[in-house]
Amino acid sequence: MKLLAIESSCDETAAALVEDGRIILKNEVVSQIPVHERYGGVVPEIASRCHIEAIEPLVERALGGIVPDAIAVTYAPGLIGALLVGVNYAKALAFALDRPLIPVHHLRGHVASNYLCHPDLKPPFTALIASGGHSHIVRVNSYTDYEILGKTRDDAAGEAFDKSARILGLGYPGGPKIQKAAEGGNPNAIVFPQVHFKDAPYDFSFSGVKTAVVNYAHTAKQRGEEINAPDLAASFTKAVCEVLTEKSVLAAKNTTGRLVLAGGVSANRDLRALMESECKREGIELYLPRPDLCGDNAAMIGAQGYYEYLAGNVAKSDLNAYATMPVDAPTF
Ligand code: KG4
Ligand code: ZN
Repeated sequence: MKLLAIESSCDETAAALVEDGRIILKNEVVSQIPVHERYGGVVPEIASRCHIEAIEPLVERALGGIVPDAIAVTYAPGLIGALLVGVNYAKALAFALDRPLIPVHHLRGHVASNYLCHPDLKPPFTALIASGGHSHIVRVNSYTDYEILGKTRDDAAGEAFDKSARILGLGYPGGPKIQKAAEGGNPNAIVFPQVHFKDAPYDFSFSGVKTAVVNYAHTAKQRGEEINAPDLAASFTKAVCEVLTEKSVLAAKNTTGRLVLAGGVSANRDLRALMESECKREGIELYLPRPDLCGDNAAMIGAQGYYEYLAGNVAKSDLNAYATMPVDAPTF
């Protein structure tokens, strides 16, 4: 079964053709980073307009003349105006081609990016989803049955990376810039806070580390001291990656014995290295998405869309987009 998948939840317009949820036939992405860069972050209204401009030629390129068997689209969560561009386009195409329309949750898509690079991977497993807007530890019981074990109580991990990069004047998006800045830095130079909750071992909190970076930079400025950016970036990365690793490895150990990483932050080199060593030590089977599939793309939506279709999760033409939607909510 060949699925056309469309993703437009944030600042990437993407379209892909995916076979049986596992094989990427085409994977097209148009990034809006150059457009938003000058504002230091995503401007929602501009993002919507860019999606409108990009979507038509992008879908044509992804299809390459093929008529798909079904159309999958990200319907939640994300920027509402951005999501609506993809959802409306997918609705119109599904109607015109008389094909099923499959709504896909963006975070489930991130998890599904692993199905595209690990042919043997099947639920049940435990997953860490760390993106720009979410930080979740979930138990994936089946392809479409999610259980939230823990989540952030304030900021997402990616958000902390983006904010810290802004403070250091490194620009947007912050994750890759912090990773670059951290090269050669001393991760033990500054001790940043790591939050743990007694009653909720899998919950996160990243607003404290974010504020600590802000305070550190302000204090240095007031004293007229130069900030050592590599040391700060490396110390910040260590604080965030240790917490992400510790909690998700513990969750995997206490549940399925298998850990899957997903979302933009899973591209982080230090996080991947730490996860690999900790999982090896604890005897946990670790699955990392291919670096080029960590960020937003449509192939992952096509992968999850296939399994949503098999579970009977097909939408009617009244499908709406939603800015927020829990990852464990039944699709329809
Ligand atoms: O999953 P994603 O591409 O989009 C959302 O669904 O939010 O995640 C984007 C987030 C951003 O916060 C970005 O700074 C972060 O992922 N990110 C990284 C890296 N690459 C992207 N964070 C840390 N290290 C990276 N190499
Ligand atoms: Zn994403």
